[in-house]
Amino acid sequence: MKYMTAEPFRIKTVEPIKQTTKDYRQKCLAEAQYNVFKLRAEDVYIDCITDSGTTAMSQNQWAAIMRGDESYAGSQSFYRLKESVEDIFGMPYVQPVHQGRAADHMIAKLYAKPGKYAIGNMHFDTFRGNAEVVGCIPLDFVIPEGRSANQEYHPFKGNMDIPRLRSYLEAHASEVCCIIMTVTCNNNGGQPVSLENIRETSKVAAEFNIPMIMDSARLAENAYFIKMREPGYEDVDIKTITREMFSYVESAVMSSKKDGLVNIGGLFVTRNEDIFHQANQHSIVYEGFTTYGGMSGRDMDALAVGLQEGVDAAYLEYRINQVKYLGDRLKEKGVPIIEPTGGHGVYVDGRKFFPHIPQHEFPSQRLVVALYEEAGVRAVEIGACAFGKKDPETGEDIWPELETMRIAISRRVYTDNHMDVIAEALGDIYKNRDQYKGMRLVFEGPITSLRHFTAGFELIDA
Ligand code: F0G
Repeated sequence: MKYMTAEPFRIKTVEPIKQTTKDYRQKCLAEAQYNVFKLRAEDVYIDCITDSGTTAMSQNQWAAIMRGDESYAGSQSFYRLKESVEDIFGMPYVQPVHQGRAADHMIAKLYAKPGKYAIGNMHFDTFRGNAEVVGCIPLDFVIPEGRSANQEYHPFKGNMDIPRLRSYLEAHASEVCCIIMTVTCNNNGGQPVSLENIRETSKVAAEFNIPMIMDSARLAENAYFIKMREPGYEDVDIKTITREMFSYVESAVMSSKKDGLVNIGGLFVTRNEDIFHQANQHSIVYEGFTTYGGMSGRDMDALAVGLQEGVDAAYLEYRINQVKYLGDRLKEKGVPIIEPTGGHGVYVDGRKFFPHIPQHEFPSQRLVVALYEEAGVRAVEIGACAFGKKDPETGEDIWPELETMRIAISRRVYTDNHMDVIAEALGDIYKNRDQYKGMRLVFEGPITSLRHFTAGFELIDA
């Protein structure tokens, strides 16, 4: 394989991106209240706000789109999707939904209970939002190594803290409605969970008779890390690993906008027939008939193909190494990042980057703004704004341990030259870091766990 180290594809269709001036970007930022979610995408040069739904599809996926069967009930596209899903998940019951958060809604209705606790390694925002609406309380039990933006090496920083889970269940099992394992663990750096940890968590869940669910948006990236880092799996193929991952859980949800390599779609998958019937009913009310669940036939066909491409070893090697390449370039420039780099992006430590900006002045959000202003690169805050909350009793602010800016890398979209631009720009901002001051939050929406999407800010230095 010597010399075969570049992208395992060539580019057939190109999408122009706009280069803008700093003056122009400053105006855009002011109009967007310094929240990059409110920018127009055309004003962004390199878009790293998310890796979700932004994948470049392959020629085989575009070809599959032409085969889409738009029948309301029993479409051929559904059966092709079901076959592909069964192959990767090893579970018999498949309910498509329109995207990941629709599956979160489904599990919030089917598993979460008002006043009860849902324990996760680290729940993603959209489950958290759905839980908040139902009145269920999400708890994060990720291992201590995964809880702060430290730079110590641990191969599986997404792992569940099993002793903590066990002692919590020994005292409060009757108050816990479900356990959700998110792979990879998005909010702490796209960090993987080991098979051993999934297996051990499932044993504890079974012991206390609590259903376990996998949030598997990035299932293939997680499986790749298992292959690379977990003793005994180096010669096992990715699909065998994904099947083993799912063999330990009752149900799984997936935002297929990530490792499904498509632009829209989601899945609820289960081995519990009774839960499947409930999921079907839920889908008919909120999503669509059971064999399309809010997806078009053509999108189901693109997903059937994308899921298989997503577990391809050559693709995964390229994918994970591009993210690592960006991480390595940033480290060379002294930029503090979470290490090791995870599956879908590089997470910059906002507190270490801007040590003089306190959390209540949103250091990582300030960095997001600086990066867009300097280079037209759009990243996203995962810190004080996204995770900050008020103590329900005292009303005091509670700030998260993790304070990061995520640079999410879309799949098969940008080249390593784009990675170099991001690294150059961040390196320059880092050199001038003393000149930046913090930000003030001037608007937030009613659901606290989702406030980062709609928040408005002012610059303190303005
Ligand atoms: N679960 C995880 C782990 C996710 O990362 C996401 C979305 C969802 C569920 C919800 O899926 O967007 O299809 O409704 N994550 C995106 C991100 C938005 O930027 O990380 P969705």
